[in-house]
Amino acid sequence: MTPETILTAAEIAEIQAELAHYPSPSAASIEALKVVQKHRGWVADEPLKAVASLLNMSPEDLDAVATFYNLIFRKPVGRTVIYCCNSVSCWMLEADVVRERLSERLGIGFGETTPDGAYTLLPIVCLGACDHAPVVMVGERLCHDVRPAQIDAVFADDVGPASTASAR
Ligand code: FES
Repeated sequence: MTPETILTAAEIAEIQAELAHYPSPSAASIEALKVVQKHRGWVADEPLKAVASLLNMSPEDLDAVATFYNLIFRKPVGRTVIYCCNSVSCWMLEADVVRERLSERLGIGFGETTPDGAYTLLPIVCLGACDHAPVVMVGERLCHDVRPAQIDAVFADDVGPASTASAR
């Protein structure tokens, strides 16, 4: 099968536009995978193979990139992904309790999606806001200084545009 039989014309056009910004096709790997994820919500095997073909890469090499970069999903996820930082600064400030509260509130464990497909709960390494630990990212919205007793604030406006919000 050719990439044209698997990817849409829009996906191919967007990937080719990304290629123009990089010195080699493989350097555009993450951006190309993001294009597919934007259109499909996640990156299944067949689209990954099609992208690999466009980038003159082996599917195995592209999969290694996809699985290394933790913002590319190789399995279906919910409409909103909640990332809970599990690195040291957050851990020292009760991130484990925040994780438990989030899990209880959603009724799912980490790596799982709610039955209605609304949320997926995932751990993530440092989100770069350690001075505001504990930190949770809801979709593209960063919630800092999250306290276990105020978990509801994490869910406020969870489908809005990217912004920074404190749950304190
Ligand atoms: S350790 Fe959590 S944001 Fe850095």
